[in-house]
Amino acid sequence: MKTELIVALDVPSRQEAINIVEKLSPLVVWYKVGSILFTREGEALVKALKDKGCKVFLDLKFFDIPNTVKGVCEVVAKMGVDMFTLHMLGGREMVKAALEGISSFPQKPLALGVTILTSMNETTLHEDLRIQESIENTVSHLVKLGLETGMQGFVCSPHELSSLRSWVPENTIFVTPGVRLPGEATGDQKRVMTPKEAHQNGANYIVMGRSVYGSSHPLQTVERILSDIES
Ligand code: C5P
Repeated sequence: MKTELIVALDVPSRQEAINIVEKLSPLVVWYKVGSILFTREGEALVKALKDKGCKVFLDLKFFDIPNTVKGVCEVVAKMGVDMFTLHMLGGREMVKAALEGISSFPQKPLALGVTILTSMNETTLHEDLRIQESIENTVSHLVKLGLETGMQGFVCSPHELSSLRSWVPENTIFVTPGVRLPGEATGDQKRVMTPKEAHQNGANYIVMGRSVYGSSHPLQTVERILSDIES
């Protein structure tokens, strides 16, 4: 299975984001725009990335009442992004509304369901959210709910991938953050894997941010990552 690299542009300004893209293109095609950068730079940045021939993953993790989520998904589809995220914890009605929001667009973006954030662990689940299931069971449940509702792609930790791959339809897309090169600092990510492990476990896309834009040699870092996931 082919695994592609998505570089997370978690930097505070359009100029910094464009600098990274110019350093890494055409080796990297996919870029993730998250809430900090989008709140600051908005649709103009998405358009600038699209004009440069990039694929855009808009990671705003929608989680609201169904009507609002339907509306924002329409906006996102009109903007021309290639993938975007919503929280599976928003439940069946919200996910259905999101898919309705993009349904009339011929070039539909791929809606990705965020299961459990990779910065969370079982203590977060049990103590903060009072979800008594294990992470694995919660993630499987959320993926099953998504598939039943018509979702085709999900964001999860690479640790959950091999068990999910064993039962989901083959065309299910998995995007995994929480990826680090061997020996790197994990930061706030509690459940990490290397690019090679994520590839071997069946990730269609890996998302890497700080490892790339925080590197003193981003291009060399990307080459190292790509040789890991292409081998
Ligand atoms: O810097 P790092 O490689 O940890 O960045 C991971 C990126 O993936 C961040 O932009 C983070 O917001 C995002 N993400 C995540 N966990 C999820 C979904 C998205 O870390 N479940």
